[in-house]
Amino acid sequence: MASDAVRARGKVGATPYGHVDGQAREYVVTRPDTPTPWINYLGEGRYGGIVSNTGGGYSFDRDPRDRRVSRYRYNAVPADQPGRYVYLRDQETGAFWSVTWQPVRRAPDAYECRHGAGYTRIATEHDEIASELLYFVPPGKDAPPCELWVLRVRNAGGRSRRLRSFSYVELSYPDAVVDQQNLDWAQHVVRSRFEDAALLTGTVFCPDTTFFASSVEPAGFDSDRESFVGRCRDLAAPIVVERGEPTGSESPRGNSIGSLCHELELAPGEERRIVYVLGIAADAAGARRAIAAYRDPAAADEAFRALREDWDAYLSRFVVETPDPALNAMVGVWNQVQCRTTLHWSRFGSAYETGVGRGMGTRDSAQDTLGTLHAVPERARELLTRIWRLQFLDGHTWHQFFPLTGEGSTGLAAEYPEWPQWFCDDHLWLVIAVCAYLRETGDLGYLEELVPYEDGPAEPIWEHMLRAVRFTLEHRGPHGLPRVGFADWDDTMNVDHGSGKAESVWCAMQFCRAARDLADLADELGRADDAERFRGHARETASAVNAHAWDGDWYARAFDDEGRPIGVASEELHRINMNPQTWCVIGEVAPPERAERALASMHERLATEFGIALLDPPYDGGTERVRGTSTYPPGAKENGGIFCHANTWAIIAAAMLGKGDLAYDYYRRILPLSRSDSDRYLVEPYVYCQNVCGPTHPQFGMGRNSWLTGTAAWTYVAATQWLLGIRPTYRGLRIAPALPETWSGFRARRLFRGAVHEIEVERTGSGNVVALVVDGTPVDGDVVPLPDGCDRVSVRVLLGS
Ligand code: GLC
Repeated sequence: MASDAVRARGKVGATPYGHVDGQAREYVVTRPDTPTPWINYLGEGRYGGIVSNTGGGYSFDRDPRDRRVSRYRYNAVPADQPGRYVYLRDQETGAFWSVTWQPVRRAPDAYECRHGAGYTRIATEHDEIASELLYFVPPGKDAPPCELWVLRVRNAGGRSRRLRSFSYVELSYPDAVVDQQNLDWAQHVVRSRFEDAALLTGTVFCPDTTFFASSVEPAGFDSDRESFVGRCRDLAAPIVVERGEPTGSESPRGNSIGSLCHELELAPGEERRIVYVLGIAADAAGARRAIAAYRDPAAADEAFRALREDWDAYLSRFVVETPDPALNAMVGVWNQVQCRTTLHWSRFGSAYETGVGRGMGTRDSAQDTLGTLHAVPERARELLTRIWRLQFLDGHTWHQFFPLTGEGSTGLAAEYPEWPQWFCDDHLWLVIAVCAYLRETGDLGYLEELVPYEDGPAEPIWEHMLRAVRFTLEHRGPHGLPRVGFADWDDTMNVDHGSGKAESVWCAMQFCRAARDLADLADELGRADDAERFRGHARETASAVNAHAWDGDWYARAFDDEGRPIGVASEELHRINMNPQTWCVIGEVAPPERAERALASMHERLATEFGIALLDPPYDGGTERVRGTSTYPPGAKENGGIFCHANTWAIIAAAMLGKGDLAYDYYRRILPLSRSDSDRYLVEPYVYCQNVCGPTHPQFGMGRNSWLTGTAAWTYVAATQWLLGIRPTYRGLRIAPALPETWSGFRARRLFRGAVHEIEVERTGSGNVVALVVDGTPVDGDVVPLPDGCDRVSVRVLLGS
């Protein structure tokens, strides 16, 4: 397999394990033994799940905690099991293998996994039998809650073959917490039966029915895991596959599986296809309807076509061509795919997040909308409205919520009841996100939508935003900065131990951004008094920051219970933290010379080849004063790790200061497609991960927690709005790039206010000053006027000094 690496060299995103196929918009994994499972997502936020490059993963319907369909054993050995498997057995020799390599792991003669937007296709060849599994979820609001696996088996040899196939998926009790606790009562209540060629699983007290069926009448089945696997065996060699005989077990209790057996007699060159359908319905009749919908494989073809069309449309709303092919692949495809995924699943269910604990994060989801506003604004709006419902009359919001029930939670363990039970930034992200939504869409009517509070009657969104601002103003500490609450953006910044005095400098800067965004909005609404008031809040807060938090070369991070600063040079540990150095620019808090100095200090003290560490020097041992941060070893996560989410703000800050080379440099440092060292990085090269171990960690450079991270939305914003500089405003699309000097320009196509903007940027000299020509006519400034009814706008941008 060494030749794979050689072949991949020179391709975009090439690693020893695969590369990008730009044409197909796929990441091609060329070896099954990736350092961690390289995952993809199926579904569009309703029924869905994760699937790895060897078929591992699980599914759920709308909520991975409350409506789990299939099982996955996290962090277990053997890794990345179970999943959606098909075994093939040669009936003449008794040899067997898995189409997806796992779980048998027999060395294939050929292997390839292609992860695409919303689907995964895994192909292997063994003993002249070529096989392939394609997984996807039929798109559309009205599609039944199910997934399809399309199996193709082809005889690539010169003699006739007799095979049997055995599918395998392990079903979960719908309440995933109960399932994972292996509660004995739950084991007793679930039963499976074989009826009309399908396996139906459920309980007597709830009509919900999990179903598994196929387009071809099976020759046999098993729905009892123990009968299928056999005693003292595992999934690598289940007794049923080894013998080649299904037992016809209907699971009376215990562990239900979906295993259907099919006979495959294949003449040379002949191919057979089986479509499996797995899902959950409100009752057995619903299950039968879903099964019937895909009995005809043409229906699966049609669903796949619709899925491709939907993604094509999604991805066509921002298309870019720059001199950097890795950036093109990321911004054009994978970053957008990841943004849509985080919009759907926040931080809830991934290969790292078990989908049982935290639910959807309110601030996480609010930020997630930022990466999708250009493509699915209506969906983003829906989500924002949903989150506003979690706001309390005093202005703060629940920290988390569960999508099926809408129920909110603080997400906090009960152990520190004396600590504040709110986060200082949650509600401010909503303000920032709504302003971004309005700049994108101009849908000012949204502000009038009536939404109830968690503890009060409905009010317009505008009032919700005012209450959010009020909460921060009413919860300020001794320096006039926002109180930190349980934590701020940094979950582990637990510095208020009941005094009610600890303050977040970073949150003050975030508040300034929110207040300025609101001021611009108020201008747009013709509310001059409000605009002045918001600008006043921003000015007042910025001057409090500048009076108390400037440490000489950078800004302090926070003040503790006793009013002592954290993240300052006089400290022994945590002398500098990156967030205030980027947000002093983003929040327009720092005077120009301080902004320059703060960013330079961050660069000198925290920048590494794999991104910028969050703080330095890290704690080494529990430190009461900061609690959470110091629970991690040095260099891990928030304790001096490289938090990719925070790195995106460095890109933006550099771009805002006009430093195109630096912004691009920061972009490249965390770009997964630039990491060819997969045996060090470990995680997927096509999506962002949440954190990379920092320079003080023995595994410096190792990525963790891929897919569900705020990095997705924020790098998208950083790349498209700040590096490329294409920024929606109330008055039109601003084009203000901060490009590296070496770039000759770029082209982009972007949908904005109903018109496709064809943008061509050409560097005519050094610098990033824009001369704009719109539809052939020179325009003053850098804003392309609103499209005014037309559906195409041609924009030429000349960049120089
Ligand atoms: C995780 C959380 C997010 C938080 C970040 C920093 O990504 O999901 O809410 O802001 O960590 O602690």
